Amino acid sequence: MCGIVGYFGKEQATSILVEGLSKLEYRGYDSAGVAVLNDDGKIVVDKCKGRLANLENKLDENPIHGFIGIGHTRWATHGEPSDLNSHPHSNAKGTISVVHNGIIENYIKLREWLMEKGYTFKSETDTEVIPNLIDFYYNGDLLEAVMKTVEKLEGSYALGVVSSEEPDKLIAVRKDSPLIVGVGKGEYFIASDIPAILNHTREVYLLEDKEFVVMDKNGVTILNSNKEKVEKEIYHVTWNADAAEKGGYAHFMLKEIHEQPKAIKDTMTSRIMKNHSIKLDDITITKDQINNIDKIYIVACGTAYHAGVVGKYAIERLARIPVEVDVASEFRYRDPIMNERTLMIVVSQSGETADTLAVLREAKKQNARVIAVTNVVGSTVSREADDVLYTWAGPEIAVASTKAYVTQLIAMYIIALFFAENKNTLSKEELEAIKDEMLLLPEKAKELLENNDKVKTFAEDNYTNRDMFFLGRGLDYAVAMEGSLKLKEISYIHSEAYPAGELKHGPIALIEKGTAVIALATQENLFEKMVSNIKEVKTRGAKVMAFAMEGHKEIEKTVDSAIYIPRTIELLAPVLSVIPLQLLSYYTSIAKGCDVDKPRNLAKSVTVE
Ligand code: G6P
Repeated sequence: MCGIVGYFGKEQATSILVEGLSKLEYRGYDSAGVAVLNDDGKIVVDKCKGRLANLENKLDENPIHGFIGIGHTRWATHGEPSDLNSHPHSNAKGTISVVHNGIIENYIKLREWLMEKGYTFKSETDTEVIPNLIDFYYNGDLLEAVMKTVEKLEGSYALGVVSSEEPDKLIAVRKDSPLIVGVGKGEYFIASDIPAILNHTREVYLLEDKEFVVMDKNGVTILNSNKEKVEKEIYHVTWNADAAEKGGYAHFMLKEIHEQPKAIKDTMTSRIMKNHSIKLDDITITKDQINNIDKIYIVACGTAYHAGVVGKYAIERLARIPVEVDVASEFRYRDPIMNERTLMIVVSQSGETADTLAVLREAKKQNARVIAVTNVVGSTVSREADDVLYTWAGPEIAVASTKAYVTQLIAMYIIALFFAENKNTLSKEELEAIKDEMLLLPEKAKELLENNDKVKTFAEDNYTNRDMFFLGRGLDYAVAMEGSLKLKEISYIHSEAYPAGELKHGPIALIEKGTAVIALATQENLFEKMVSNIKEVKTRGAKVMAFAMEGHKEIEKTVDSAIYIPRTIELLAPVLSVIPLQLLSYYTSIAKGCDVDKPRNLAKSVTVE
């Protein structure tokens, strides 16, 4: 993961780098550093373990002056978070410095090879081989040395390179890790993600693998591995930098939870309209191709996987095509069977998750058609998939995903309806009824957000619990999984989601007096059965908060606290029932005094296996 930035221009580089890094901390935050070419053309590196604020304090005490530099915020893979393992990494002479996002898989071999040649290493990182390889290949041409170096690298990388041998230059390149180039007036940027540069420019180049960026007095040039100039179109960013600010909320997560009504609406806009067929501009799959599909896989990681589980229900129920859903890190190694009649749907907020990307590539290799559902325009999955359905959630900064998840659910329903329409598996009336209900979701989500006192109270009463269980049946189980993940991610309480009917086959042994249980009972056809399962845990002393559709007041007789979600059709209930679960984990995290937006050990964009 990790975030990298680079600056080449007329302003003091350090403050621009630090500001950029502050927008990328969601990618990792266990250490940070910068390398700046100072007024004497020498590289000055400052880096340290811990949050970016530590680095800022150090830089306040010892400012570095210079107009070209690179910066890094780290999520440790090779070597614990420490000052030494922090980036940038340099060669022994301190003439070449590098920031890196990704993993160099053959670094041990390269390190041994370099050691035989007399090179020494200070850190435990894979990255440190890079400045040393550049040093080895340097023969008066930095670009040439970087090109020769990346030839030797196996794995993934986005690199920013500076050298005191050529102090008026910044070089960058990517492979399987994200990197964009910002183009300002007489100043240029590199960054892992757009928000890092948005205060300075809205004009960006989206780089392809193995494209080399050279910034020097002639401006910015992009070259392919044969040193041929690549002509690229500028991508103009239309969304606002404010979208990546907290806007008065205490945390990004809370802000993003409250942005959900808008995100849901935006994702449906122009796609779902009364008495119109589903319109998917960016999807070129034809009716014949849809009718030819005999199997769909939905593959993703983390929260996006949970959206995929809802997608399976929706597509099977509405379009009657068999769907298998799997986590990407498992799917890619289980020798999956795919062919030209298979459709692969990959779901990824960032569009850069390494395992998801690998699945996409494997699917293409086996001739499956790939639809990507992603939130990031120009992300790698969006570029490599055959079709893209964008979720319009806007930038999501908090590590724990909320608004991206609900928009992924909307995307799943849209795809299911689109297929149903093309396969004639639903009558016009049935289709219209579902669309009508979908169009009401933003208002209903808003309503839910206005009434969250009971959830807050439950969180404040239960935040000291060691465990929490989430139960549900059918689609409620899919949402229970997401609720449980959210809670453990940001409050560090051990939690498990279980299909309520399966509880008695083992986990019920864990229920004792005072165990907190969150029970979802929004599925009308399973309501009675769910109430019986709640009774099973109540009898054993559990403290239960239940979620049911409005009108099911009878549940109050069985549970300690009942939350009602505005009435909708069962199929769409996950969009609403997940909202109080997100708030439950938020308030629990606050009550425990945890860092809501930057939970320990996690990162938002996981670009390593
Ligand atoms: C990380 C994030 C999760 C996210 C998952 C998949 O684990 O912390 O919030 O759901 O990656 O990310 P993607 O960008 O592919 O949706």
